[in-house]
Amino acid sequence: MTASASSQPPSSHLGRYPAGAAAFPHPGLLGIAGLAPHEILFLLDEAEQWVELNRQPQKRDDRLAGLTIINAFFENSTRTLLSFEIAGKRLGADVVNMHAATSSVKKGETLIDTAMTLNAMRADAIVIRHASSGAVRLIAGKVDCPVLNAGDGQHEHPTQALLDALTIRHALRARGDGANGDGGGFTGLVVTICGDILHSRVARSNILALTALGANVRVCAPPALMPEGIEAMRVTPFHDFNAALDGADVVMMLRLQQERMEGQFIPSPREFRHLYGLTLDRLSRAKPNALVMHPGPMNRGVEIDSNVADLVNGADLVNGQEGARSLITTQVEMGVAIRMACLDVLTRRARKLPGWGTPDSSGEIRA
Ligand code: NCD
Repeated sequence: MTASASSQPPSSHLGRYPAGAAAFPHPGLLGIAGLAPHEILFLLDEAEQWVELNRQPQKRDDRLAGLTIINAFFENSTRTLLSFEIAGKRLGADVVNMHAATSSVKKGETLIDTAMTLNAMRADAIVIRHASSGAVRLIAGKVDCPVLNAGDGQHEHPTQALLDALTIRHALRARGDGANGDGGGFTGLVVTICGDILHSRVARSNILALTALGANVRVCAPPALMPEGIEAMRVTPFHDFNAALDGADVVMMLRLQQERMEGQFIPSPREFRHLYGLTLDRLSRAKPNALVMHPGPMNRGVEIDSNVADLVNGADLVNGQEGARSLITTQVEMGVAIRMACLDVLTRRARKLPGWGTPDSSGEIRA
């Protein structure tokens, strides 16, 4: 696709989803919880056009021209903040970044006052990252525009789960391993998520998205880093990484979230690597050509060895090369496309696209 200033939604997958806002009736994106599988697939399909556009030399579509997007990041971030900023700019929006370190938050302002200030500036979308679980929902209740959760505490990181699903789908398609049809190819896929499950919003959102799409999700962590009652999320817990890897199609590694740990959860990083680090040797227990993923930032030599992280990059899968295993940079690429899709879809009501009506009293949008 070439860059265009069209204000119309893409038509390539129209017909597969309910028309207009019925395809995605939510006023914002606070989490994967509450999304129907077809709504997740709708966002993945919407993102495909942006994957294409982002591979062109001219990466510009002006459908959000004149709109203001505020990225309010109350917690440090490199890739997620940059990704949202690039996504907004490629769609032609004016993007402003608010860093907590330099904001009035440090002067004692309450979160609600900050939210009301952002609202008074008439932002058209607000992207929020916050260290407290639930903070994003609190802000969403106080502002008039769509709110996108860029990670709240240990709760959810929905765009990460969406970009991970898109990455898996691309890799499977490039291999000719299905990923077509209504389910998107996730049915029966064995995905092992290993690391600090307890503190990870990435794990939570991925579990919700992948199980909704029909994957068999295994989670693996030392006992101290495994949430109690995780089985209720329809996953199989493991403490033995070797067993969790047996026959896996996808291995997703997570960093130890030291900043969320009070006290000692693991004896030492060395010990952690010994039992839970993804080494080449250990990876051989998974399916041949199992895909390797990591949301970043990576701690090489702790949860993942360098020679695994750098296993011929997933981008090469597109060219049909064999042996491509690590999708870590493909995840970053898909992140921009997913965020473009989310910003586009969530601003359709404000942009008065045909069929994208006004929310009813429950906040759901009815065409
Ligand atoms: C994750 C996050 O911030 O939750 N990173 C990201 O968004 N890519 C994971 C992490 O910090 O470990």
